[in-house]
Amino acid sequence: MTCDIRITPSILNADRAHLSDEIARIAAVSDLIHLDVMDNIFVPNFTFDFDAASAIIKASPIPIDSHLMVTDVDEIAIAYAQAGSASVTIHVEACQDIRNTTRGIRAAGARAAIALKPGTEIDRYEEYLDDVDMFLIMTVEPGFGGQSFIDAMLPKIERVRALIGDRPIWLQVDGGISLNTIERAVDAGADTFVAGSAVFNSSDPAAMVESLRKVALKGN
Ligand code: DX5
Ligand code: ZN
Repeated sequence: MTCDIRITPSILNADRAHLSDEIARIAAVSDLIHLDVMDNIFVPNFTFDFDAASAIIKASPIPIDSHLMVTDVDEIAIAYAQAGSASVTIHVEACQDIRNTTRGIRAAGARAAIALKPGTEIDRYEEYLDDVDMFLIMTVEPGFGGQSFIDAMLPKIERVRALIGDRPIWLQVDGGISLNTIERAVDAGADTFVAGSAVFNSSDPAAMVESLRKVALKGN
């Protein structure tokens, strides 16, 4: 059973022309802002280059959780930590040297996290548990917001929760999290929830963040 719950709204589907206003709407009720960085190579979509992302990180009133969906992530991950991200997530599928890169992220003062795409098995990555502060299990194929939560990921979440044991590692889920799915993810052992379209397609994004937290805490 998990004790702390964190809601980390994704601004992927927020209004890009008014991002600082969009962030301001949810800042008071959110734990971190989830920043999806896509390079149109690792995933078939592009969001921000490093300069644009850095400007968002620096201007944000609350900590930024940078989710890097980019190839050759090893060096740029450390730059994202140096730019002031509170947390930097790298995809194991894109990383040459996980241990060295997570060490570099931590040395630059950020929390280090690794992410697994839906098709990536956990077995080869168990050995990195002591190198990370957060583990991200993708519950959709990365690239786009608004997709459906993949229920087949629930056993993988349970497995990671069991592997984490007593370690103070956050277990994040990303993709398709809504009032309908968050409880399933909580029951499987997740404690940190990305929600993009559920929050920004809502008429009251801050109220939606609070509702998600309420449901998550009930299932906890
Ligand atoms: C998908 C991104 C997610 C996405 C979540 O590749 O990593 O963070 O924004 O959006 P929803 O909550 O709409 O699935
Ligand atoms: Zn994400």
